[in-house]
Amino acid sequence: MSGVSFKFPVTHTSQSHLSAVDWDNLPFGKIFADHMFVMEYANGEWQKGEIIPFGPIDMHPAMSAIHYGQSIFEGMKAYRNQSNEVVLFRPELNARRFAESAARMCMPEIPEDIFLAAVKQLVSLDAAWVTDKPGYALYIRPFMFATDEFVGIKPSDTYKFVIINSPVGAYYAEPVRVKIEEHYTRAAVGGVGRAKAAGNYGASLYPAKLAQQQGFHQLVWTDAKTHTFIEESGTMNIVFVIDDKIITPTEEADTILRGTTKKTVLELARQWGIPVEERPVTVAEIIDAAKTGKLQDAFGAGTAATIAPIALIGYRDEKITLPALETRTLSLKIKAHLDGVKSGAIEDTMHWVQKVG
Ligand code: COI
Repeated sequence: MSGVSFKFPVTHTSQSHLSAVDWDNLPFGKIFADHMFVMEYANGEWQKGEIIPFGPIDMHPAMSAIHYGQSIFEGMKAYRNQSNEVVLFRPELNARRFAESAARMCMPEIPEDIFLAAVKQLVSLDAAWVTDKPGYALYIRPFMFATDEFVGIKPSDTYKFVIINSPVGAYYAEPVRVKIEEHYTRAAVGGVGRAKAAGNYGASLYPAKLAQQQGFHQLVWTDAKTHTFIEESGTMNIVFVIDDKIITPTEEADTILRGTTKKTVLELARQWGIPVEERPVTVAEIIDAAKTGKLQDAFGAGTAATIAPIALIGYRDEKITLPALETRTLSLKIKAHLDGVKSGAIEDTMHWVQKVG
């Protein structure tokens, strides 16, 4: 599909499910808005996309994505601001990362303007699903998978790009307990760790399950070779505050997902004059700082997780409790600022917010 103005045809649902949503008991990612966007790739190009009622997708048993894993996704959110407008937060970064993930997984890139037009038209159509309830948003899940009906190994010639939307509250209902993983590996240099590839999440489930059996919510992944450097957590990037400095693992190695929320946190900190160190971060320095009381704050940063304070770090046989939440002044200030920019209470001087519709 080569594009001019992207206005996709719409088939409206005959029955909205919005009135059935129980906003006070909303599980993360299990309820879906009325419509979805679908676009096929065939004959070497993207075909015209369309918006249709949310529902099951036909699948051939030999569909290559389920055999060989050519499957990528994104996570973004739409918010309702205090002027009753629906806004997206830095969606161009998701469009770019989606294209980068596609390239790494040998999948066709979606031009960023088509990606953004599809997201905006779909969210605009289901705008009634974007609540103004504090802490809530419409989680947007664009994804692409290979659809060739063929069990030989090769890049698929056909793909499906789909966007579904899910109203959500907090991903973590409480401060997060993480365990530093020194045996299993999420990503190795030269692998696909930087891509938002479905298989990265599948591969993390078993080690994460073992940690959950020990009372943790999530792992903190370390480098594949030495397990001495911190990389990211399974659902979010990770940020530390030591000696009033923000310290976070560098993304130079291709093993860490380039998160929008983390990028925003670092930009904000720099703007506020807070020293930021993006560099290799050792497990030893974080454990030492935590034990000697120098670790002022540790938090996850992610679209789903938002700014998620880390309450406890598990390291080998130890469980190290981090400072009380009310002392985490920097991450509380960052979260309040981001919430304020999204809601319109704080001026969006960095032009992070885009209106939908
Ligand atoms: C996101 O933050 O959007 C993600 O994709 C993480 C996922 C675990 C929900």
